[in-house]
Amino acid sequence: MIQATLHQLKVFEATARHGSFTRAAEELFITQPTVSSQIKQLTKAIGLPLFEQMGKRLYLTEAGKALLQTCQDIFERLDNFEMKVADLKGTKQGQLRLGVITTAKYFIPRILGSFCQKYPGIDVSLNVTNHQQIERRMMENQDDLYILSHPPDDMDLATQAFLDNPLVVIASKNHPLAGKQKIPITSLDGEPFIMREYGSGTRQAVQNLFAKYKVSVRVRLELGSNEAIKQAIAGELGISVLSQHTLISEGKESDLTVLDVEHFPIKRRWYVAYLGGKQLSVIAQAFLNYLLEQSPNYSVPPLHLLSTVENFSSSN
Ligand code: PGA
Repeated sequence: MIQATLHQLKVFEATARHGSFTRAAEELFITQPTVSSQIKQLTKAIGLPLFEQMGKRLYLTEAGKALLQTCQDIFERLDNFEMKVADLKGTKQGQLRLGVITTAKYFIPRILGSFCQKYPGIDVSLNVTNHQQIERRMMENQDDLYILSHPPDDMDLATQAFLDNPLVVIASKNHPLAGKQKIPITSLDGEPFIMREYGSGTRQAVQNLFAKYKVSVRVRLELGSNEAIKQAIAGELGISVLSQHTLISEGKESDLTVLDVEHFPIKRRWYVAYLGGKQLSVIAQAFLNYLLEQSPNYSVPPLHLLSTVENFSSSN
């Protein structure tokens, strides 16, 4: 049995995460020599080097990588235990880590707001990023729950669909096709287009549909933010395809409109997912239940009703 203390494992985990003794020392409020000596003792107890130093940076050895994985498992279990104890004492306390794709940020913070009011002892870390980065976070087991539109097929995940996420063609109100009905998709051929960045799920869905109908738009600009794309559309730089949820706060005075183009909306759904075999913490489970209960309030109206609603969204 390896003789390692919990403190040594914490010091090791922080050093491995930062790739630096100095930064680990700063995070843990201890001195740099203390970090080095704790790592030295741990290395001796294990009998194999844990780090290799190249220049200023530390790299994990095979043994170091295996130990990091073990530490993360241990700390996750301890966190879950603490949350369980708090729950048994009648309070919900601890951390909720969420990884969320960009378009879900239009409603997740609001659901989180009321969730945190209900359970004030919960700290939330919300990471908003694109599809590719969410997949990376999943592979590294960085979050409790993920919200995304296209769960990867090659991963062992528990998933549940909870809300429609229609992708629509958005143009400036002054665009010549604005207000026209049943626009053939081929009319978009050659249109100046603003595309999401590489790695975006929206981009992938749009490219698949255009390839299917042999539509070739003229990509004028690539942007990594839905909000920046909306501004570029309003500035008449081109049209784009985005989630209808990105229009959630546009009122009647908006400069944007949704074009009624054949084969749109692209029907996508949001899923909440977690890694298969993962034991959800009390808090993650409570949030999952809350999300499934609250999300119907955040659905968007069907396209044919858009002109009759005050806002583009029917949400509260
Ligand atoms: P994105 O996510 O930010 O990667 O485009 C949206 C989606 O996958 O629907």
